[in-house]
Amino acid sequence: KRAASAASSTQPLLPRRGYSSESAPERKVAVLGAAGGIGQPLALLMKLNPLVSSLSLYDIAGTPGVAADVSHINTRSEVAGYMGEDQLGKALEGCDLVIIPAGVPRKPGMTRDDLFNINAGIVKSLSAAIAKYCPNALVNMISNPVNSTVPIAAEVFKKAGTYDEKKLFGVTMLDVVRAKTFYAGKAKVPVEGVNVPVVGGHAGITILPLFSQATPKANLSDEDIKALTKRTQDGGTEVVEAKAGKGSATLSMAYAGAIFADACLKGLNGVPDVVECSFVQSSITELPFFASKVKLGKNGVEEVLDLGPLSDYEKQGLESLLPELKSSIEKGIKFANQG
Ligand code: NAI
Repeated sequence: KRAASAASSTQPLLPRRGYSSESAPERKVAVLGAAGGIGQPLALLMKLNPLVSSLSLYDIAGTPGVAADVSHINTRSEVAGYMGEDQLGKALEGCDLVIIPAGVPRKPGMTRDDLFNINAGIVKSLSAAIAKYCPNALVNMISNPVNSTVPIAAEVFKKAGTYDEKKLFGVTMLDVVRAKTFYAGKAKVPVEGVNVPVVGGHAGITILPLFSQATPKANLSDEDIKALTKRTQDGGTEVVEAKAGKGSATLSMAYAGAIFADACLKGLNGVPDVVECSFVQSSITELPFFASKVKLGKNGVEEVLDLGPLSDYEKQGLESLLPELKSSIEKGIKFANQG
């Protein structure tokens, strides 16, 4: 089976030559927030993914245009656009995977937590709709603050009686993408072969890249590792400042989101040994959610992998991130349970 042959996340996203739709099962994927800065390029990249048979694009405005545009691309998936809450059910019905980049992005000077007040409500209502219309779908949460929005979704699903901890993912893939790029530059190795696990959460110091486990190995100084760590943690802010008020990362985020969604689809389809980092329910630390390497399978999370050996610098980073991550998780849980 061709579709089951390649598990590597470095696979190109373009359709494979000689692809036949008979070789991959039907998969419906929805993007919620599809007309936004991330949503549009993510819709494009998901349209290029041959594992998708039905692409459902939902937003509160602007989706008919995005859907019409993307639908003309001659790849496998059927595209449909849905706009406004009364069409959300149709957008979600039968979904295998729901990707959520809905909500406001940062402006210069803002932290991800500053987005909480607006995005928490959006995520809460979208999660309630998922529980109602596609309770078995995998959910890829992109909306920030991910450290809080994932716990919010979990609480909403628990209340609805649909929570399956194997199916809820906070998308931290952009931190991995950045760590790989920055490491390759510093270590002067070809970026395509680079791997760097990033653990913890998705905001500031909660983003903990494990450069001691990076491959291929390079002899970087402590100073270099510190600088790489800081740049990975501040990568989002670098883009926010460069965009000077026009939003945060969209193109690199769409790429990272598409790679992660592809890994989830491969897992669903039974491709073996698909491993990516994600913020999931976890027991590898004392916190209920934590990002680490996760093995993806037919039901979503097959195994949460432990952290592996950490350098002293990384051990320190881990200690100092736990309180902040804990309070972001608690903030999400509290929000979901009020009112
Ligand atoms: P954007 O403002 O360009 O697009 C957001 C879209 O969401 C808009 O089209 C808006 O109409 C839509 N939306 C708002 N309320 C909605 C609702 N109730 N249902 C459906 N759609 C709704 O923002 P952008 O740049 O696309 O960012 C989206 C989110 O992704 C932000 O929260 C941002 O912080 C987050 N983000 C996450 C990253 C990560 O690594 N996880 C990286 C970059 C951004």
